Parts: sequence; C-alpha cells; structure tokens
Amino acid sequence: MKLNGKVAVVTGGAMGNGLGIVKVFLKYGADVIIIDYSDKLQDTLNLFKNYNVIGYKADIRDKEKIKDIVMDIINKKGKIDILVNNAGIAKLQSFVDMSDDIRDKHFDININGTWNITQLVVPYMIERKYGKIINLSSVTGPMVADTGEVAYATTKAALLGFTKSLAIELVRDNINVNAIMPGYIMTPMVEGIANDSDPKNPQSVIEGIAKGIPMGRLGTIEELGELTAFLASDESSYITGQGIVIDGGSTLPETKSVGI
Ligand SMILES: NC(=O)c1ccc[n+]([C@@H]2O[C@H](COP(=O)([O-])OP(=O)(O)OC[C@H]3O[C@@H](n4cnc5c(N)ncnc54)[C@H](O)[C@@H]3O)[C@@H](O)[C@H]2O)c1
Repeated sequence: MKLNGKVAVVTGGAMGNGLGIVKVFLKYGADVIIIDYSDKLQDTLNLFKNYNVIGYKADIRDKEKIKDIVMDIINKKGKIDILVNNAGIAKLQSFVDMSDDIRDKHFDININGTWNITQLVVPYMIERKYGKIINLSSVTGPMVADTGEVAYATTKAALLGFTKSLAIELVRDNINVNAIMPGYIMTPMVEGIANDSDPKNPQSVIEGIAKGIPMGRLGTIEELGELTAFLASDESSYITGQGIVIDGGSTLPETKSVGI
C-alpha cells in the first residue's frame, strides 16, 4: 500500500494509460481524482465505485475550469500529493499536409494543458513541501520517430525539457518531477493509429508493431501503471528530473539486421 493516504490527480484517466495508472494507484491505496473530457469517464468511475475515486469531466485546455476543479479538490481533500499529466493526443499526418489546427491541438493539449494544470497545482505542493509530478512524455520525439509524427514528437520532446527544468526549480521544495517515456502500450490511442493506417485490418498493424519490439508485444496499461506508482511513491524519493523509458526494448537494438 505504498500510496496509502496520498491524494493523486490523474489527467486523462478515463481510458488507456490513464486507466492503468488509476487502477494501480487504487491498488496501492491512493485517493484518486480523474480529470478527463471523455464520455467514457462515467463508465470508468462505475468500474471503481467501491474505491476512493472521483471524476471531473473537463478539458485540460480550459484553464478557468481546471482552476475551479483544483480549488474544489483542495477544499474536499485538503491537498494534492501526486499529479500525473497523462492526458494527450496523437494524430499522425505528413508534415507538409499538416494543418495548423492539428499542430495547435497537439501543442494546446500535450504542452499547454500540462503546463497550466501543473502551474495551478504546484503552489499547494510548495506550501506543504511535498509533491510528485509525473509527465507522460514518450520515446517518440526525445529518442525515435516515425513518419507523420512531427507534431506529436515535438510536444513529447518538449515535455522532457519541461520536466527537467521544473525538477530543478522545485528540488528544494521536496517535489520530484519525472517523465515516463513509453514505447508502444496497448491503448485506444494506438488502436486509433492502427485504424487510421489500415482501416480494413487494424489488427495487422498492431501485429506489425509487436514484431518490431524485442519483447514481441506491446506493453500493458498495468505495466505502465506500476512504473507510474513507483515514481509517485516515496520509494523513488532520490529520483528527479529523469525520463524513464518503458518500451519492451524497442529503442535498444543497435542495428535492425541482427539479433532477434
Ligand atoms: N499508448 C502509447 O503507446 C503511448 C506511448 C507513449 C506515450 N503515450 C502517452 O500516454 C498518454 C496517454 O496515452 P493513451 O495511449 O492512453 O491515449 P488514449 O487516447 O488511449 O487516452 C487518452 C485519455 O486522455 C483523455 N484526454 C485527451 N485529451 C484530453 C484533454 N484535452 N482534456 C482531458 N482529457 C483528455 C482522453 O479522453 C483519454 O481518456 C499520452 O500523453 C500519450 O502521449 C502513449
């Protein structure tokens, strides 16, 4: 029960990685608050109705609403120990064809949304000299990339700079700021990408991705949740400003032609 008594806010917790994080956090005794704009939020809350979990249906781009939500959480729970900036989008499109709208959506959600909620939560962490902030970056951007990922990769690389810079600024306030850099985790986002690239046979895309990963499979949301719980716990107290890769070895091969 390494998160017993901790109050954790998870953005984008209605499905995918966020759902895995919520599940594992509840297993370790955390009090969880989900912020998500999806209609699926209610189903997720129903799934965990016997646990300490509440939800707010909101878009992290809506700064005023997020401000009210953070105030409401502080009034109800008295503190926020953990903030997981997980909400994010990925829409693949070639660079020359990419509309400003698609680019701006990535920047507004993946960077500015994360920035805004963090700026609203951090003063309450500084006040208590305690906090754990975990940002969902990716291997895409900081380490690798495929065609169509310029907007997404740019935002995920930016989150690594955000993580490091914020970590040093908050280091004397006993606030740890780290990033998680997943390879492929099986989520609705990845299903969407598979569907867009081969609408007739998305499963073949998933199988193709799995073949390219040394472990031969995509990661699970629970595996991602366990790493997040470790970074959210006091067991990782001496780690800050880091990007931790969780990718089944996908960024490991030195060449593509030998080995597996
Ligand atoms: N799945 C992967 O392979 C993978 C790999 C690397 C990084 N990531 C990162 O993990 C995070 C979660 O990805 P996922 O695969 O679970 O995605 P997903 O699309 O399956 O789920 C994302 C969740 O975030 C919510 N969300 C998105 N934008 C929001 C907004 N503006 N306001 C509120 N909620 C919002 C969605 O409603 C959804 O519940 C993202 O930041 C993503 O970049 C995922």
